[in-house]
Amino acid sequence: MTISFDFTGRTVIVTGAAQGIGRGIATLFADAGARVAPFDLDFDALKAVWGERSDTIAPLAVDVADEDAVATAVEDVAAWAGGIDIAVNNAGITRDTVVWKLSSTQWRQVLDVHLGGTFHITRAVVGHMRAASFGRIVNVTSYTGLHGNIGQSNYAAAKAGIIGFTKTVAKEVARFGITVNAISPNSATAMVAGIPAGKLAELTAAIPLGRFADPAEIAPAVGFLASAQAGYITGTVLAVDGGMSM
Ligand SMILES: NC(=O)c1ccc[n+]([C@@H]2O[C@H](COP(=O)([O-])OP(=O)(O)OC[C@H]3O[C@@H](n4cnc5c(N)ncnc54)[C@H](O)[C@@H]3O)[C@@H](O)[C@H]2O)c1
Repeated sequence: MTISFDFTGRTVIVTGAAQGIGRGIATLFADAGARVAPFDLDFDALKAVWGERSDTIAPLAVDVADEDAVATAVEDVAAWAGGIDIAVNNAGITRDTVVWKLSSTQWRQVLDVHLGGTFHITRAVVGHMRAASFGRIVNVTSYTGLHGNIGQSNYAAAKAGIIGFTKTVAKEVARFGITVNAISPNSATAMVAGIPAGKLAELTAAIPLGRFADPAEIAPAVGFLASAQAGYITGTVLAVDGGMSM
């Protein structure tokens, strides 16, 4: 599948970029000429995929739940590249169980990574985007955030929170030439591989297109929202979910 994007001269942070959807998104930006800073908790996996730092790639071990680590890493990228134009808040985890069995730790872990991580990165990059009077932030939410899913009250709360966060920040930063949008994907990744077979069959049956996407099919939606041409789109949630949410 060939789609032409040109991100020459742009600097992009993608969180959770060692595998899955984040890797697919970071690959699109790298192929389109951007300087890319893939962030991930799993630095060995990150290095295996992205190699050492170069003029065009800066892989960084960052826990997005750690606000100090995020602030340091974002400043590192800004110094490396001379600015930050695009941030994709994709890093995520699941800690699934029904609410009466959900520990406070499982609740916090999921909220801290998805919602906390999205907040930490956004707060850290907005100053750089304001200075350039240009910015694109793309957050990753989920069908579960809008519709719920048994065993995922923590994840649903985080993903619903990301939608409210997206719309609010979109309003706050619009006047600086910064757009903030979200995608709601479905993709065959390690996260989905962890779903029990019966439940996975049920979910797949609920997707009109009948399958989970390859991560490479999710990335172009992010590329579009991050492009200069999408400058009049902000505060929206773009479903890239095979029709599941229609
Ligand atoms: N796969 C789907 O169908 C689907 C559906 C809806 C939403 N999503 C969302 O898409 C995003 C990517 O999911 P995926 O399916 O590619 O999952 P994945 O598990 O394959 O990849 C997630 C990546 O995030 C990294 N990560 C986890 N915690 C982190 C942290 N604290 N700091 C930095 N990196 C961290 C992991 O190491 C991993 O590389 C997530 O936000 C997920 O909730 C996925």
